[in-house]
Amino acid sequence: MADAGPDGQGRRVELSGVPETLLWNLYMRAAEARRPRTVLDDPKAVELVDRIDYPFEETFGAPGPLLAQGHALRVRTFDAAVRAFLAEHPDGTVVTLAEGLETQFWRVDNGRARWLGVELPETAEVRRALLPDEERRRTLARSALDLSWRDEVDPAHGVLITAQGLLMYLRPAEVRDLIAGCAERFRGGALVFDAVPRWFSARTMRGEMRTAQGYRTPPMPWGMDAGELPKVRTAHPAITDVREVPPPRGRGFYYGAVAPLMRWLPAVRNLRPTMTAIARFS
Ligand SMILES: C[S@@+](CC[C@H](N)C(=O)[O-])C[C@H]1O[C@@H](n2cnc3c(N)ncnc32)[C@H](O)[C@@H]1O
Repeated sequence: MADAGPDGQGRRVELSGVPETLLWNLYMRAAEARRPRTVLDDPKAVELVDRIDYPFEETFGAPGPLLAQGHALRVRTFDAAVRAFLAEHPDGTVVTLAEGLETQFWRVDNGRARWLGVELPETAEVRRALLPDEERRRTLARSALDLSWRDEVDPAHGVLITAQGLLMYLRPAEVRDLIAGCAERFRGGALVFDAVPRWFSARTMRGEMRTAQGYRTPPMPWGMDAGELPKVRTAHPAITDVREVPPPRGRGFYYGAVAPLMRWLPAVRNLRPTMTAIARFS
């Protein structure tokens, strides 16, 4: 990552492979946040996109309003889970695996929670440069698969772990070990994660998901259909409940009426490109 000018503007970000995907997520959040009747209030994401020197549009294309809103509604699903946790555990710890340049902390912070991001070293470097650590919020440069990150978590006031946009990039056995590792250590806690359906995973594995600009989505080896959700419990005996967390209703006919119905219809629920779920440990 190249340095920026003294005003911090125009900071060049050079990432590739899975780490680069964080820029797509950031771009979508910012695009939705800029809309007049937005479903996501995220001024920090807008600020970051403006500060970063990266060819967003040339790489990912113009952010279609449907795509950006869909992404923002998924983000809101995670926000709601974190807010619900903090309402019960105001001094709790939120662990964000693969945090990328997520700006969720600024959307949900209650002024008391502890926040620990766990990121690959190359991404952690970018995040710390753009969003320096603070007293209650820090980034650990470590793979989420190196379970030693658990030793950095203070479990005294409750723990919620999130894995937004991570598990699909891992191999199935890695996903299982990571979920089991969370359940084993954080009894009474929970993991919020998202998953892509099997058809979507298969398309990325064949290299078929690409933008008109030629950007190719990295392979997503782990896919899980909605009907398979109960299987997550078999990863560890401490997992006592696994359920889908529905996204909020959005703007317009599709996200306001069609999408909320889709999860109830077995024939079409797996056509949704992602699903968010929570696994509780006891
Ligand atoms: C799609 S981005 C998601 C970023 C962020 N959660 C968001 O929603 O904007 C994927 C992220 O996974 C991170 N990542 C990939 N493998 C990882 C691993 N083994 N441990 C921690 N982070 C990982 C990448 O660095 C990247 O930030």
